[in-house]
Amino acid sequence: MAGSVDWVISNCVINLSPDKPRVFAEIARVLRPGGRVRVLDIVVEDLPDGVRRNAALFGSCIAGAISEAQYVAGLKAAGLVDVQVRERLTYDASQLRAMASCGLATNEESAALAERLAGKVSSAVFFARRP
Ligand SMILES: C[S@@+](CC[C@H](N)C(=O)[O-])C[C@H]1O[C@@H](n2cnc3c(N)ncnc32)[C@H](O)[C@@H]1O
Repeated sequence: MAGSVDWVISNCVINLSPDKPRVFAEIARVLRPGGRVRVLDIVVEDLPDGVRRNAALFGSCIAGAISEAQYVAGLKAAGLVDVQVRERLTYDASQLRAMASCGLATNEESAALAERLAGKVSSAVFFARRP
């Protein structure tokens, strides 16, 4: 119901949505005035060519992710305020290998992709509030 929720929390799923502006708008719609948001998600910067079309990396929460700036802009565009990134962890190649190995054809392929993506993929915690 619109305007009925004190908090919206979410962990590592909005990256999978093909329509993120709609997700952000729905968050704003259900929050009561003064209601708060805590969302953790994967964010990416400058993904190499081809990664967006990699189904395994989509399933690993990487290929469908947007940038931190796009995330902040999306929450603000939905009418939310006090939008903040309070924590951020940028993954190195070994961490990405663990994340991206599921569904990839070979360990070599996974390792090479992890090297290409190192420093471009982070986990970020966003806070916001409905005015
Ligand atoms: C699509 S996410 C959904 C997570 C689910 N919403 C939850 O809170 O458990 C599923 C996979 O992402 C990974 N995952 C869960 N939380 C994560 C996080 N905060 N950062 C990175 N990966 C995460 C886990 O391996 C999990 O199998």
